[in-house]
Amino acid sequence: MKRKQKAVLWLLVWICAAILPAGCTGAKKEEEKRSIRIGVSLYRGDDTFINNIRSELENCAKEYEQENGVKVTLDIQDAKGSQNTQNNQVERFISLGCDVMCINPVDRTAASAMIDKAMAAEIPVVFFNRQPVEEDMNRWDQIYYVGAVARESAVLQGSIVVEQYQKDPKSLDLNEDGVVSYVLLEGESSHQDSLIRTEWSIRTLKDGGVPIEKITGGIANWERSQASALMEQWLEQYPDTIELVVCNNDDMALGAIDALERAQVQGINLVGIDATIPGLEAVRAGKLLGTVSSDKEQYAGAIFSIAAAKALGQAAPGELSLEEGKYYWSPQKIVVQP
Ligand code: GAL
Repeated sequence: MKRKQKAVLWLLVWICAAILPAGCTGAKKEEEKRSIRIGVSLYRGDDTFINNIRSELENCAKEYEQENGVKVTLDIQDAKGSQNTQNNQVERFISLGCDVMCINPVDRTAASAMIDKAMAAEIPVVFFNRQPVEEDMNRWDQIYYVGAVARESAVLQGSIVVEQYQKDPKSLDLNEDGVVSYVLLEGESSHQDSLIRTEWSIRTLKDGGVPIEKITGGIANWERSQASALMEQWLEQYPDTIELVVCNNDDMALGAIDALERAQVQGINLVGIDATIPGLEAVRAGKLLGTVSSDKEQYAGAIFSIAAAKALGQAAPGELSLEEGKYYWSPQKIVVQP
């Protein structure tokens, strides 16, 4: 081969090498997914807080479609409190070819079977609100969790009462005996939030110098009707004694308010957690002393943006600064009466 021919050949090789990767990227771009399918399973669709998150997820999907031109199918299923049903929903999501699953586990200690299925099908999972045990979370690098720090919610809840006591002790110590007598409404015993919230809100009251005395407490499983029944019973059992109702969530506070209204009892203070839509209305109406809001937009936004990135085969969004590369903690704040 003559020198000139050789030079031309090398030039051709060089041009191809320069062009090919761009061409590959171009071809890949054309192949890029224009639609994603996200399977969402809720532990109970009738839970007020979970319902608020669900609405935000739907908003996120709409916004994402508009901004990115990627069609999003959100397949939202209600497990109605049954782990068995949820396991079947996971199987169905897999058979339908979901790109990612967002799971609000019914039984947070039973996530392992769902993880097995997801791993076998290589479908990433974003768990939320009910935190799987660490051992399960560490089984695969395609497992994420979005939630709110339970201790932070509780400390914020406690500080609502501490501030109120510092401002006006008599508004809490109604009979002015130097002690604030309280009852406690707790969420599900198996939920990570219940125990931690109870412990830390009471600890915050004590540390904040509120002289407290517990009358009684009970588990109302986050539910308004169960809380209402318990409160009704306590009002009969301890007439003119209860001064404060500490509730692990807003729905139970609303249940206690229902009982107070039925019994026509006034003056008792209540605090909740969640800042659900009816919870916020109760604060505005002066029925609830305060609540703790975990930003639902950011909460659902984190679930959705991790899910969308995973569905497209990308890394989780860097701006979420996930703890240990897998946990997102939603920011929280106090909401009190104006
Ligand atoms: C809690 C929330 C409760 C309930 C529960 C369900 O974080 O405060 O209201 O929704 O999750 O798992």
